[in-house]
Formats: sequence, C-alpha cells, structure tokens
Amino acid sequence: MNSANPILSGTVVLKADELGRIEITERDGVRVIRRDVAAARWWARAFARRAAAREARALRKLHGIDGVPALLGWDGRELLRGYIAGAPMQQAQPRDRAYYKQALRLLAVLHRRGIVHNDLAKEPNWLVREDGRPALVDFQIAWTRGRRGALFRLLAREDLRHLLKHKRTYCPEALSVRQRAILDTPAPHARLWRATGKRLYKLIARRIFGYWDNEGQGRVRD
Ligand SMILES: Nc1ncnc2c1ncn2[C@@H]1O[C@H](COP(=O)(O)OP(=O)(O)O)[C@@H](O)[C@H]1O
Ligand SMILES: [Mg+2]
Repeated sequence: MNSANPILSGTVVLKADELGRIEITERDGVRVIRRDVAAARWWARAFARRAAAREARALRKLHGIDGVPALLGWDGRELLRGYIAGAPMQQAQPRDRAYYKQALRLLAVLHRRGIVHNDLAKEPNWLVREDGRPALVDFQIAWTRGRRGALFRLLAREDLRHLLKHKRTYCPEALSVRQRAILDTPAPHARLWRATGKRLYKLIARRIFGYWDNEGQGRVRD
C-alpha cells in the first residue's frame, strides 16, 4: 500500500498483506526497514518465512554493494534491512538516462555475484535515491545459488529485459538497437507465462489475496 500509516511514533507501515508487514522503524537510533513475518496470516506464514530466509541469503551475498540494502538482522521472525532514502520508481519516474546506465551496472554486479533478482517487473522494487541513483529491494524470490549454466543466464536476461521495459516507459529515446532487440525477444517461459499463467495468477491473486498489483500505483511490466 502506498500511503504510509503512522501507527507508533517512529514507525510507519509501508505495506501489509497476507505475507506480513513492512515498516520503517528505528533500531538503536538508526532507521531500518523491518519485514515482520510473524504478522503473516497463519496459512501463509511458512511460505513467508521461506521467502524472508531467501531474501536474507541474497542480501548476505550482496553485502557491501552500493544500491542494495544492508542486512541488519534475520531471526526467523523479522528481517531488518538498512533504510535507503529515496522513492519507488512509480513515484520518482526516472527519466534520466544516467539512472538506467547505473541500473544496468548494478544488475551486472548482482549477476556477477551469482544472484538473479527475479522480481524486477515491479516498479516498487526499484528505488530512485535522493541523488537520482538506483537501488534494488525485495529479494524474496531471488535466485541465490550462484551462476549455474543456462537457467541462470536465462533468468539474468529476464532481469535485464524487465529493466529495459522500465527504460522504454520513462526514457525510450535512450534505448539502443541491441536493447530494443532484447525487448522484442522475451524468454520462452515469459512467453508461456503471458499466454497462460498470468491470467491464472491474476485470478488466484484476486480470489485469495483480493488484489492484483497491490503495491500502490506501481505497474508490473511483464
Ligand atoms: N531498504 C529500503 N529502503 C527504503 N525503502 C524500502 C527498503 N526496503 C523496502 N522499501 C520500500 O518498501 C516497499 C516494500 O518492500 P518490499 O521488500 O518490496 O516488500 P514486498 O516483498 O512486500 O514487496 C518497497 O517497495 C519500497 O518502497
Ligand atoms: Mg516489493
């Protein structure tokens, strides 16, 4: 949810759904982002915990990268990430070609460390920092097992393609010929997904979760 609801002084809920709650809060005087898995609905809790554990694993491997939040704690119930000042893509609408150049570089660094993000079609997972540079959040469905052949390369290319879709929306004049070619050739699983799975997913998301694309006005480009 996009509108922030203050519930306690110093704590603001950014998002709450079946899988838990995301808040901005403070620990030892430092601003942190807290993912509360205990706040997930009972039937979703095991899944939410696995997803948070995956995120912790990814953030550990990405430690020290500028543009990825620091992992400050994970105890099986709450995951703490360093706060990154800025706004999500759907609000900030980055139209500057430097943003995409830096975002491409950030993706390359991720992939070199053997991590694929897998959820980059969602604008809310891209941040625009106060100085205009990109940052990435939400590694819950990331591939964290290192660079392993063809599947890794396919998923890494999908990460890239999703970034280029955002670039096409906000800064199309800066797309290169090669980037346009990548946009025109989604991976086979993405084509299959568009043809079948997406409709099914929307149905399930609406029926069970009561939403489709619940993160504010953030569009999902896939
Ligand atoms: N480290 C961070 N710094 C600043 N904002 C963040 C940070 N992590 C998450 N957010 C904000 O909170 C939102 C929800 O977090 P996210 O990890 O994407 O949760 P979810 O898995 O529920 O989508 C993000 O879209 C972003 O706007
Ligand atoms: Mg997210």
